[in-house]
Amino acid sequence: MNLLVCGGAGFIGSNFIKYMLDKYPDYKIVNFDKLTYAGNLDNLKDVENNSNYKFVQGDIIDLEKLNETIKENNIDHIINFAAETHVDRSIHGGCKDFVLTNTLGVQMILDAVKFNNIKKFVNVSTDEVYGALELDEDREFTETTPIWPNMPYAAAKAGGDLMCNAYFVTHKVPVVVTHCSNNYGPYQFPEKLIPFFVFKLLKGEKVPVYGDGLNVRDWIHVVDHARALDLLLHVGVPGEVYNIGSDNEHSNLELTKMILNIMGKSEEMIEYVTDRPGHDRRYAIDASKIKSLGWFPEYSREKFEQGLRETVEWYQNNTEWVEKIWEKKKNEMNKFQENLERSKDKMKSAT
Ligand SMILES: NC(=O)c1ccc[n+]([C@@H]2O[C@H](COP(=O)([O-])OP(=O)(O)OC[C@H]3O[C@@H](n4cnc5c(N)ncnc54)[C@H](O)[C@@H]3O)[C@@H](O)[C@H]2O)c1
Repeated sequence: MNLLVCGGAGFIGSNFIKYMLDKYPDYKIVNFDKLTYAGNLDNLKDVENNSNYKFVQGDIIDLEKLNETIKENNIDHIINFAAETHVDRSIHGGCKDFVLTNTLGVQMILDAVKFNNIKKFVNVSTDEVYGALELDEDREFTETTPIWPNMPYAAAKAGGDLMCNAYFVTHKVPVVVTHCSNNYGPYQFPEKLIPFFVFKLLKGEKVPVYGDGLNVRDWIHVVDHARALDLLLHVGVPGEVYNIGSDNEHSNLELTKMILNIMGKSEEMIEYVTDRPGHDRRYAIDASKIKSLGWFPEYSREKFEQGLRETVEWYQNNTEWVEKIWEKKKNEMNKFQENLERSKDKMKSAT
């Protein structure tokens, strides 16, 4: 396989590339990434000299560059992780880039797939496109649950997913869409919950929990997600959607207490803060369709504590990795923090 990985310098993409290079010594991988604030080539240090791996800096909305990269490298399969992914940024920082990358960018890849006769394209998406469930609702998202996103991030992702369906029906483009739950594991950008909390606690600071902390998410290990995507690249049926999840639901408060426990900190380190506007209450995934293809999460619910402990320890042992990112992305991060505080103040005075 000659595989183009869009957005491979981020959290899930970099874990996926390393997993694939390790498992398939004869596959060639080209990582096509814009290197936004969230893209980090340090995630791929272990493989940067691997002769089957190559990096190309590019933006997925640049169709010409996509076509050129595909031709030069005889690409026959594509997987897309490229996205603006931080929900708080889509709320407090403006969401134009979200629509550009998550919707228009996917459409550009679909054009490239069509133009270059690519054998299969997997578009990696999220369970957040389904909207929210109530805490006491006895149901999970299935592949036929209507797309009804509540947040700009999720709406922009849903735009890309709908384009995939339209290109499959209209142009017979061989595309598979995945909807996965919350990932955890190493190399996640430290503005996301788990690494953010670990680094705050390491600095002796309290961790901010939104609202009552009872919002529930399903947590999947990033390597289990990579294994599912590997399977779908090979046997996923074009035109189909696949949910990916671990039956591992926990409230944010439960997760926070688990992190505190692993790090030997008391619950006094929790600080409850004003809830995120439009904060979805619960996501839950029915993953029986992909399980029927033989996939199952190795980090099952029973092994979550072990997976979380390994993840927390990875961040504790790799503080240099995070310090380097903060240093490199300092201006961008400070600008976002200022916007965030300003936007929260505006919201407070409006209510
Ligand atoms: N993190 C999760 O829990 C989760 C869960 C379900 C689905 N997803 C989806 O998985 C994908 C990857 O998520 P992640 O957490 O690794 O994200 P991330 O923010 O860590 O990485 C995103 C990567 O995309 C690159 N990128 C952004 N815009 C680009 C553009 N226009 N052109 C090329 N590259 C661009 C960035 O430089 C970065 O390397 C996303 O599509 C996300 O919606 C994530």
